[in-house]
Amino acid sequence: MGLILSGVQPTGNLHLGNYLGAIKNWVKLQNEHECLFMLADLHAITVHQDPAELRENVLKVAALYVACGIDPKKSVIFNQSRVSGHAELAWVLGCNTPLGWLNRMTQFKDKSGNDREKAGLGLYAYPVLMAADILLYNATHVPVGDDQKQHLELARDIAGAFNRNFKTEFFTIPEPLIQKTGARVMSLTDYTSKMSKSDPSEYSRINLTDDNDIIRNKAKKAKTDSIAEVTYEPEARPDVANLINLISVLTEKTPQAVAAELAGKKSSDLKTMLADSLIAVVEPVRTKYLELMNDRIMLMKILDEGAAKAGRIAGANFSKVKEIVGFI
Ligand code: TYM
Repeated sequence: MGLILSGVQPTGNLHLGNYLGAIKNWVKLQNEHECLFMLADLHAITVHQDPAELRENVLKVAALYVACGIDPKKSVIFNQSRVSGHAELAWVLGCNTPLGWLNRMTQFKDKSGNDREKAGLGLYAYPVLMAADILLYNATHVPVGDDQKQHLELARDIAGAFNRNFKTEFFTIPEPLIQKTGARVMSLTDYTSKMSKSDPSEYSRINLTDDNDIIRNKAKKAKTDSIAEVTYEPEARPDVANLINLISVLTEKTPQAVAAELAGKKSSDLKTMLADSLIAVVEPVRTKYLELMNDRIMLMKILDEGAAKAGRIAGANFSKVKEIVGFI
């Protein structure tokens, strides 16, 4: 493995899906590899953001990265808008991306809703910017959750198209790193939809900043079914299986082992076990996060140093791209 890059959009809180699907894996990877972890603020503004809130959210997410275990001494933490190469390379790549490829992106279809004419160009071009994020550093591996798979495939296609068009092998074709468990954490209230920041119901997700009372309350309201006794039957009892699966990812036990512990017990016991396993993971992150948010100068310093380091790698690579494309 060469260089690793990934990122999260700093729009509001991070939730457990972001942690279990992506960040938890980053923490392991940083011990063995050169890693860059971005706060994708350019991606965030594809949907209007209040400027003061965006500033606050960038600091919050930086604090959450560190609270989750990303060590700024080992990994580069930076916000995307500080390195101009992201937007510049996105333009060059956009000129090598057929519209047909972008029209296939399911996330754009979901996010633009019924009134596609009103969706912004940024939302449409979003996956090209994501390709630029990765290719700007010639990252070899990109650790993400399952929902980013299609964007990663597009990044690979765009790298290939650029290389072909300019008869070069400059861009590395990046590989996705998607975990076997936790890559798709589902909503607590609907086993068919993924846990997401944009779900209107707060009860659908666990935020990494939720306190223990909120977590217990959300676990209590999580969806089960009308059968009293807990069993693990994903086909017949998907709501109960969804909660058992989540406990399994949180505790790193198999779903069968979790179900065995709950044999003969009731759904209220399942919910207590869910709350306990959630708190065991979220509480230490939240505690550290609250501590870090008291030291904004230190957070700004992490972002300053990160932007400088990322900028050096990006600058060297983008100069090469300009040469390949024919810019003087
Ligand atoms: P974002 O901010 O939507 O999500 C950040 C990371 O969390 C993962 N994730 C999940 N994993 C499991 N279960 C879930 N329910 C769940 N929800 C989210 C995502 O897969 C992702 O890994 N476009 C990206 C940010 C980005 C990026 C990049 C990522 C911008 N440039 C370059 C990698 C490389 C996004 O919006 O992620």
